[in-house]
Amino acid sequence: MSNVKTQIEDLRRELEQHNYNYYVLSAPVISDFDFDKKLKELQHLEAENPQFFDPNSPTQRVGSDINTAFRQVKHRYPMLSLGNTYSEGEVADFYERVRKALNEDFELVCELKYDGTSISLVYENGALQTAITRGDGEKGDDVTANVRTIRSIPLKLKGDFPAEFEIRGEILMPWQVFEELNIQREKDEEPLFANPRNAASGTMKSLDSSVAAARKLDAYLYYILGENPPADTHFGNLQKAREWGFKISDAAKKCANLEEVFEYIKYWDTARKDLPVATDGIVIKVNSLRQQKNLGFTAKSPRWAIAYKFQAEKALTRLNFVSYQVGRTGAVTPVANLDPVQLSGSVVKRASLHNADIIEGLDLHIGDMVSVEKGGEIIPKITAVDKDARFLLGDKVRFIKKCPECAAELVRVEGEAAHYCPNEDGCPPQIKGKIEHFVSRKAMNIDGLGEETVALLYQNKLINNIADIYTLKISDIAPLERLGVKSATNIVQGVENSKNIPFERVLFALGIRYVGETTAKKIALALHNIDNLKNATLEQLLEIDEVGERIAQSVLQYFQNPKRLEIIEKLRAAGLQFALSEERLAAKSDRLAGLSIVISGTFSKHSRDEYKAMIEQNGGKNVAAVSAKTNYLLAGENMGPAKLEKAQALEVKMINEEEFLEMIKE
Ligand code: IVH
Repeated sequence: MSNVKTQIEDLRRELEQHNYNYYVLSAPVISDFDFDKKLKELQHLEAENPQFFDPNSPTQRVGSDINTAFRQVKHRYPMLSLGNTYSEGEVADFYERVRKALNEDFELVCELKYDGTSISLVYENGALQTAITRGDGEKGDDVTANVRTIRSIPLKLKGDFPAEFEIRGEILMPWQVFEELNIQREKDEEPLFANPRNAASGTMKSLDSSVAAARKLDAYLYYILGENPPADTHFGNLQKAREWGFKISDAAKKCANLEEVFEYIKYWDTARKDLPVATDGIVIKVNSLRQQKNLGFTAKSPRWAIAYKFQAEKALTRLNFVSYQVGRTGAVTPVANLDPVQLSGSVVKRASLHNADIIEGLDLHIGDMVSVEKGGEIIPKITAVDKDARFLLGDKVRFIKKCPECAAELVRVEGEAAHYCPNEDGCPPQIKGKIEHFVSRKAMNIDGLGEETVALLYQNKLINNIADIYTLKISDIAPLERLGVKSATNIVQGVENSKNIPFERVLFALGIRYVGETTAKKIALALHNIDNLKNATLEQLLEIDEVGERIAQSVLQYFQNPKRLEIIEKLRAAGLQFALSEERLAAKSDRLAGLSIVISGTFSKHSRDEYKAMIEQNGGKNVAAVSAKTNYLLAGENMGPAKLEKAQALEVKMINEEEFLEMIKE
């Protein structure tokens, strides 16, 4: 065994232990800084020695942008659901059914019912092999790449695990992560996730595992399947799984009788509100595996387990008035203003009414007593009106016809639920919102221009659109309250620096509806400059990766507005980047004529799409799979072991980024 190999293996083991300490035990023993240092060291060693690649190395937890549409995999054991109950009476019925069927003593295990997305993990010889979603219960999507990024899921196990087994559990997005994610999505004009469950399952469906890596998911496991389980009870299995390194909830408890089950329910109905993740009930399981087997399954669910769902918390309160909020895109949201009421641990004063149809459906009147629920959603919603409590009928709530901010006539697009204010260039929250987006960190990243400063400059009529930012002078800004020469200089310097921001970010900054960061990048790479984009046809737009009808139409519409074209011309005159840099375009040549090149792994200098474009621009052919005809394998970091093996077997020449860039250099 070579020295490097041992070094790599030791580092992997050590880092995996630190991951476990941090993410499973919540008890780190080294600093983040030291962890990162060790991780970098391992990354370096692995890059230098690609023959020791391992998909279960801690370095693989960062994800990659390799786009793999999911493979469908059949579950070895179907993934069934549980029967639901909502009352203690139904729980007692379950208990009675089990007692009669077994006709002997039995023990139960109560657990929390985690409200995330279920996952099935298969381990072979202590290494994670596959992670499959529930799918239709028979077969699911292979989301192993995404699951590898979840730090609390062990990639390698410890202790005396069976050679082969399956373990199931729930992938969750902690409340805090969920809330931060939605704040960011709102800024990026992306649709919000309704609850952590949707966010977790949406993340699992992402084709780019670096998205999953960034989302900080967690996972609790609760069910072992396999031919040779380590214990003869469910509870025993859970303890074993914990020893192997899995995150097993401490809340699982053995119960000897129905009273203990009710006590458990009562305790957790309140205590769960302090947990970092969402739960929506408890699961009651027969503990003995022999007894589970005797009870068996119905077509849909086990007879040995049942779920008890917590009541969504509700409160009754009075509707005082409805106000309307106008967002950056002009969407108008109705908001119910309520008598303050205590709900799920916080005081609720406002609730979203979503849209005109919802208001109409509730037949809402001012002064009504309404029922407010928090459910899994962050924003409380009104679910019902207590019509019996109406003695004096207030005014019927009618959706406003005019924008509350600028008095423009609202419009409603056919087939859409929302009302919009069409006065984009004259409606203050829309104007300010667009400017805030333009200067934001991921867009033009202009230092010193935050929400408050934008509002101040707007109020003082110094800026009315994004082009005005480039006319700002120190002498205009410095006299404003709360600013001064220092801040003013800082702002003007930031504005100047933004002229170097690359085209794709300028494109994102323009705030074309539905064109987020990634889409902007794809469009920039495909069309190279703003003039091509301006003149692009629907067909051309639809050819771009990840651009569908909705985005394409929105782009076309954007460039139809002469005012926007005027602003773009002003920005161009100011010196902003409206074309990809020469370097990024990689001058066209026939240097790679006749060569067939496969790309694999992840790269640091350019993205895979960019390398693909470079190959084609230089006359080469980019092919997906390694074959005897392949001339080169452009190998990045973390390339797949299958491709590597095949390339070695066929003696295909491997080149790295630097070598490739050297090849196409003029
Ligand atoms: S046991 C044979 N235990 O609830 C069924 N499920 O409707 C084995 N869930 O699909 C499932 N927490 O996604 C079990 N502690 C727990 C659970 C749990 C959440 C989910 C799971 C399952 C659904 C059942």
